[in-house]
Amino acid sequence: MISSKWLSTCPAISRSMFTILTGAQFGDEGKGKIIDLLAENYDIIARFQGGDNAGHTVVVAGKKYKLHLVPSGAIFGRRLLIGPGVVLNPRVLWNEIQTLESEGIRVDLGIDPKTTVIMPYHIELDSLREKARVEKIGTTNRGIGFAYVDKIAREEVQVGDLTDPALLEAKLDEIAPAKEKAITDMGGDPNVVRYAPYIDEYLEIGKKLKDRISDVSREINIALLEEKSVLAEGAQGAFLDVIHGTQKFVTSSSTIAGSACTNLGVGPTMVDNVVGVVKAYITRVGEGPMPTELLDSMGEQMREKGAEYGTTTGRARRCGWFDAVLGLKSIYLNSYTELALTKLDVLTGIDPIKVCVSYDLDGQIIGYPPESTADLGRCKPVYEESAGWTEDITEVEEYDDLPGNARDYVEKLEDLLGVEIRAVSVGPGREQTIFRDLDED
Ligand code: GTP
Ligand code: IMP
Ligand code: MG
Repeated sequence: MISSKWLSTCPAISRSMFTILTGAQFGDEGKGKIIDLLAENYDIIARFQGGDNAGHTVVVAGKKYKLHLVPSGAIFGRRLLIGPGVVLNPRVLWNEIQTLESEGIRVDLGIDPKTTVIMPYHIELDSLREKARVEKIGTTNRGIGFAYVDKIAREEVQVGDLTDPALLEAKLDEIAPAKEKAITDMGGDPNVVRYAPYIDEYLEIGKKLKDRISDVSREINIALLEEKSVLAEGAQGAFLDVIHGTQKFVTSSSTIAGSACTNLGVGPTMVDNVVGVVKAYITRVGEGPMPTELLDSMGEQMREKGAEYGTTTGRARRCGWFDAVLGLKSIYLNSYTELALTKLDVLTGIDPIKVCVSYDLDGQIIGYPPESTADLGRCKPVYEESAGWTEDITEVEEYDDLPGNARDYVEKLEDLLGVEIRAVSVGPGREQTIFRDLDED
């Protein structure tokens, strides 16, 4: 079994009870696939931030599952949790549950009652605001940013409110006037705030979700005390983090490993292991600096071969060479104990392969990204080259059977980042994963 192999070659994971997994770049690193693989070894998979802006793709036995809210451990039938740091569109969640169940997958899901609900007025505000921006962010228009604004402003509707019509009505009475004014001021239709059909639909979904309500922090802590294992599933990636990312071109949640503790209500002393998922090159959806972006035919080749089109919006992803300077910052932000490298197969046939090892910022060579987004936007990549390979690697099962140049590339990234790459993904399928027994290397 593939993931048992991971278990036996991955001492940190086999020891661990609480593992956090996050994206180490700009999202879409292939977290969905890696979480699906790991899920076999965990009792609980818990999503801790973001909303349906995320799109995880899991491919099992040739069948593709696109998940936005239901944690990627779903396909293994594990206990799934959505923590209160998530912003949740009930309509999207309910559709996803129904789709999975119609395919015979049992969705054993618990949702924290404090989870923020994305209301239609959040989506309206998101799109009005983006239209008004001279310099766009490239939001997915799912209402994510405005739902988090309301959480921080303490003006949110929570999942628990959907299970009781009186509670929801009282909340809306309090919140509606300010929302109606904001939408009117931005030139939108204020009637969206109290639009009866959506309120009825949300309450209907609330009834169906009632039995799935769970105090997520309590459930996870009890599970850990009972020596069960928990995998915290991140969405997006380090440089979309609202605190440490490339503001303003970020999402509205904290995407890095520490966020899992805060958002799930588990203290940092419980964390055993932090897995980072990195793509063998880099992609970004939406606006914002990306020093190694390739605007030429090489970028186009990566996009086509890697099928780099957004799972949520279908937008073309910007592609570029691996950026080890950003990579280093991601290691600092997340304190990874190990890495999974994805999409190595996409680089087959490219020679030479470049890796960005430092930046030239206004004539100065730097090895760590500047804090200022504007400065990052002016950084010019300094590359080192590695020799490529031409052999098809999509069916390789053992690390030693990879072409020498492919192994050299993996080990070069490992050296630059200073963290062990314990798994190498060579295709979207579960079985297309090579586990490295580093103790024998
Ligand atoms: P976000 O939470 O949105 O950041 O997404 P994600 O990290 O789960 O990644 P997403 O599923 O959006 O994109 C990764 C894509 O690459 C999916 O279509 C996967 O099926 C595919 N994929 C994953 N690993 C590999 C691999 O090793 N090789 C190839 N060719 N495709 C892969
Ligand atoms: P928002 O989170 O929808 O507001 O989008 C803010 C920025 O984050 C935009 O540039 C999006 O393209 C990007 N973004 C949000 N979610 C994802 C994701 O799951 N993968 C990659 N980029 C994302
Ligand atoms: Mg994605």
